[in-house]
Amino acid sequence: MSSSNPLRDPRDRRLPRIAGPSGLVIFGVTGDLSRKKLMPAIYDLANRGLLPPGFSLVGFARRDWENEDFAQVVHDAVKEHARTPFREEVWQQLAEGFRFVPGVFDDDEAFVQLRATIEELDKARGTGGNFAFYLSVPPKFFPTVVQQLKKHGLSQGQGDSWRRAVIEKPFGHDLKSAQELNQVVHEVFRPGDVFRIDHYLGKETVQNILALRFANTMFEPIWNRSYVDHVQITMAEDIGIGGRAGYYDGIGAARDVIQNHLLQLLALTAMEEPASFDASSLVTEKLKALRAVKLPKDLGKHTVRAQYAGGWQGGEEVHGYLEEEGIDPHSKTDTYAAIKLEIDNRRWAGVPFYLRTGKRLGRRVTEIAVVFQRAPHSPFDATDTQELGQNALVIRVQPDEGVTIRFGSKVPGTSMEIRDVTMDFQYGESFTESSPEAYERLLLDVLLGEANLFPRHEEVEQSWRILDPIEEFWDKHGKPEQYTSGTWGPKAADEMLARDGRSWRRP
Ligand code: BG6
Repeated sequence: MSSSNPLRDPRDRRLPRIAGPSGLVIFGVTGDLSRKKLMPAIYDLANRGLLPPGFSLVGFARRDWENEDFAQVVHDAVKEHARTPFREEVWQQLAEGFRFVPGVFDDDEAFVQLRATIEELDKARGTGGNFAFYLSVPPKFFPTVVQQLKKHGLSQGQGDSWRRAVIEKPFGHDLKSAQELNQVVHEVFRPGDVFRIDHYLGKETVQNILALRFANTMFEPIWNRSYVDHVQITMAEDIGIGGRAGYYDGIGAARDVIQNHLLQLLALTAMEEPASFDASSLVTEKLKALRAVKLPKDLGKHTVRAQYAGGWQGGEEVHGYLEEEGIDPHSKTDTYAAIKLEIDNRRWAGVPFYLRTGKRLGRRVTEIAVVFQRAPHSPFDATDTQELGQNALVIRVQPDEGVTIRFGSKVPGTSMEIRDVTMDFQYGESFTESSPEAYERLLLDVLLGEANLFPRHEEVEQSWRILDPIEEFWDKHGKPEQYTSGTWGPKAADEMLARDGRSWRRP
């Protein structure tokens, strides 16, 4: 990165990690993900000086577009969604590397053109034959796309150059389909060349879980069954399903985000210290934690799924799930899911991990709350401590990024009354640089070939092993309860915790 880059603090002496000569091909480039996340992230990376000067972007889709039309679409997406300011000179240099290949996935002609485009870019922009193929398409198209890449000699680099596949979730809809999908991809790409995106791992606050736990001394000694009462992992969204009926119906909240994001958060919270921070050490420890996850015996009592009914949100009246456009009015798809899990190992035996997620809840918040046991003995009068809750350490993943510690403190005055107070770390106050978007980090890592932040297939399999019995149970047992939009979910979820003598946090 040049020292004249205005986004870079001149006092920062760390060497930035800059991708070498390379390009990216996006299949499904007209989709939402591409416009809202990928295109802006590419621009933001270029703006931060982290892409090579000849970086090239190839869009592949069924559109009758010229390169200029594609560039215009990227331009609009960047203007609307990029994180960093628009700079004409950065844009101009980046846009020179844009190409568009029109076509459908089973069209050989289109792949011949794709190959010619890549060769042309190697000559004109010095991309060195290094290309990542981003499959931002429904999994049913994976077999065709990867086979076409193989057939047209695109899946293997020549000499030292590399080819990588980037795949978006859903990684199947159960264990069996995930294994099939994996086989399809690995027939063509080597395991080390496949990057599965779980964008939660790209979030700064999620990476910070390991920093918090393993770069400090004060947390780890109490991070276990001797001190922790339970852990709550919440991913609440205020939005409904928007225009995603086609994807969401039949999938539901648990498959959409528990299988990946929430179980990854659980793994990072529960895992042992890795031998080092490289990808295989991390996977080893995450996998051990996931393998130790045990389902409760009575799934009827310890899992809940529900659907949003109409209500009010942000001052607007909103539809119920069954009234959303494109949704089967008899759908049993969950838009809320809560499950209790245990981790059967020495550190966590007997400590429940409660996971919950839902659409159209009170507000958008993702957090991990480690709730500690009460002090074993209290020398204070019961009346003085009646306002005292349990100590907690809360990792605020979003939107108000930071960490909170909750503990009891004496209320000023003549009595010994003790009440909960909080101590806060806020990213915005402690650091001058703003956090990059998850996709910036992940796309850069793909180009650098760094796999730390990408789940391996074994982790995906373990996650389905955990979820499959729950989904089967739900399938067989009745219909989801309804909850009013804008509230904190169904009554059954509160009852689920109340039976254990606990309650959900109201973030
Ligand atoms: C996606 C899910 O993986 O994550 C969406 O498919 C969800 O349903 C989204 O809305 C939430 O992402 P974020 O980064 O806004 O928490």
